[in-house]
Amino acid sequence: MIAMQPWWEEGRLAIRTPAKLNLYLEVLGKRADGYHELDMLNQAIELCDTLRFASLPDSRGIAIHCDDPSIPTDDRNLVAKAWALLHERAAAPGVEVWIEKQIPAGAGLAGGSGNAAGALVALATLWELDLSGGELGALTLALGSDVPFFLYGGRAICRGRGERVTPVAPDPPLWFVIQWPGFAISTREVFQTFKMPLTGPRALLSISRKELAAHVSAGSIFFNRLEDGVFARWHRLEEMRRALVAGGCLSARMSGSGSALYAAFLSREEAEALYGVVREGGAGATFLARGLPGWRVDRIGKERSCGDH
Ligand code: C5P
Repeated sequence: MIAMQPWWEEGRLAIRTPAKLNLYLEVLGKRADGYHELDMLNQAIELCDTLRFASLPDSRGIAIHCDDPSIPTDDRNLVAKAWALLHERAAAPGVEVWIEKQIPAGAGLAGGSGNAAGALVALATLWELDLSGGELGALTLALGSDVPFFLYGGRAICRGRGERVTPVAPDPPLWFVIQWPGFAISTREVFQTFKMPLTGPRALLSISRKELAAHVSAGSIFFNRLEDGVFARWHRLEEMRRALVAGGCLSARMSGSGSALYAAFLSREEAEALYGVVREGGAGATFLARGLPGWRVDRIGKERSCGDH
């Protein structure tokens, strides 16, 4: 099943929402609204959560169940926030939601952001709302900076706070070993303590699509400006990154504001070989995941792959 396209399963509407990795993340500066201006190359991966929705005809509220006890199931949950945004405009009955987590929280993998985007798509489908791409985009950004990317998936350049999304062909395809050290890092705190380097940003801005693919193949695109600040505080992450590099990957980086790290590969075989080694390492969790091709949610209920464009 392609991520972000809901399907019916025993009377419940189900949707799989992927994680993302930042192949490239540069901070261009701090904005007047307190957010940071970013230049990113994001990649959706097949490590997915599954959300299931059922109508509660006798209620107008939301009840959330989640198999990860570290995630709040009250109105702090991004699925509840997505529901609140849509419920305002739909005279809809209540809903019960089951969230099956694979993606660790607070890991820089945007699992909660993907859940939020998936909840918008699933609830609008459940309630037969007619939402345009523009409306969906505004709703996703209201839920968080990483949420708009999930309407496109695949590989995409994301700018601004993260909401200016330009899909690019996922060439060459990539495989990843993802290591989660077993603890969460707050994105807000990482940005609050972030200091711009004196050398200035090395922006992706001017690169052509052809050059982009060549830089991915050569391993020279991979970069994360937030690493230095995070590694200075959590030395273990830098050691873990070195171990991944020593395993012979294309590149190894932190995703987002951490705590997860990934090693990138051009082939499944190489990724599997490293996975077999580092899986024994006693980390919080290790995953093997393929980079996903793009999808694009233009309107609710309509789904096309990037290849159709
Ligand atoms: O938008 P979101 O709620 O996901 O962001 C979490 C926090 O990360 C923000 O409150 C902000 O402190 C920080 N952030 C930022 N610049 C961005 C994205 C997030 O400073 N582009």
